[in-house]
Amino acid sequence: MSKIRAAITGVHGYLPDYVLTNDELATIVDTNDEWITSRTGIKTRHILKGDEQGTSVMVVEALKGLLEKTNTPPEDIDLVICATVTGDSIFPDTANIATYKTGMVNAFGFDLNAACSGFLYALTVGAKMVEGGTHKKVIVVGADKMSSIIDYTDRTTCVIFGDGAGAVMLEPTTEPGVGVLDYEHHGDGSGEKYLYLVAGGSRKPATVDSVMAREHFVRQNGRPVFKAAVSGMSDVVKKVMARNDLDADSLDWLVPHQANIRIIQTVSKMVDFPLDKVMVNIQKYGNTTAGTLPLCLWDYESQLKKGDDIILTAFGGGFTWGALYLKWAYDGSGGA
Ligand code: ACO
Repeated sequence: MSKIRAAITGVHGYLPDYVLTNDELATIVDTNDEWITSRTGIKTRHILKGDEQGTSVMVVEALKGLLEKTNTPPEDIDLVICATVTGDSIFPDTANIATYKTGMVNAFGFDLNAACSGFLYALTVGAKMVEGGTHKKVIVVGADKMSSIIDYTDRTTCVIFGDGAGAVMLEPTTEPGVGVLDYEHHGDGSGEKYLYLVAGGSRKPATVDSVMAREHFVRQNGRPVFKAAVSGMSDVVKKVMARNDLDADSLDWLVPHQANIRIIQTVSKMVDFPLDKVMVNIQKYGNTTAGTLPLCLWDYESQLKKGDDIILTAFGGGFTWGALYLKWAYDGSGGA
């Protein structure tokens, strides 16, 4: 019997309406469009505004769009994995809120936290559930409302991040060569000190003092994160390419986490892969953490063809990083 693999059969995304420009940021902190563009490549990012609007708002919109596009009744979904670091609350998990609000009455769901590598890890877990033969329709969604943990008085972080969600449908296939074919993931907890939240978890629960000290916002030492991101992603992409006999000609697309255009350009150079086959949309959305990879697939979907060889790679807080190799399963924008 042919091996069951998990194929992506549809992708959809959601960005909130409000667009925060570099010029508006320059009215909030001491920065300017030239600095942000040249150091990060970011021009705009979307922000989810309004009272009590959590990440699930964006997840629900992405899921509804995905169901509609793939002509899938909500009750057919078996599992939803939501990669996020900004769930609506510590518990219950955002995946369950979203399955309830979209009528996925037969699905179970859970959140997965691996910062910017969250979608990649979740895609691997979802693919294994499909390959095991027990789950026929699995949705993997990457979503973050980074604006909820960003300090808009800190110019070193507030220019980088944005809000957004992207989701893919995974289904079984026995077609030779289609679907998720390989992956390699890594973690290094010593990276914690470079990118973290001080308070709000079990180690330092929220207090009046922690709020006054702005300890619920992202803290980052950008330079070591930059260096580790470049070496981590290029190393693992090279390994996955070598293992699967892929080179700059045969690989159709590289989909890197969108953290900084200079990181993307350096990785492309280090793996000797042309930038015109690297998916880039950081200029529009900034770093949406778990959202970047599916939002790239969504933006480039119309250019993808069945059989395209694609490597996704990410690096995030933790440190966490990895790469995943798949063959695309359909042509154009409609889903399989
Ligand atoms: N506007 C103007 N000046 C700024 C700004 C800003 N927004 N931010 C920093 N600066 C200043 C600094 O204060 C510093 O000034 P100084 O020389 O007077 O001290 C100068 O610019 C240079 O600062 P650096 O931090 O050295 O700038 P760098 O070129 O490293 O760029 C950046 C900073 C964009 C943060 C970069 O280091 C980076 O992208 N790092 C990786 C970040 C990343 O990828 N994070 C996400 C990881 S994934 C996750 O899990 C969330």
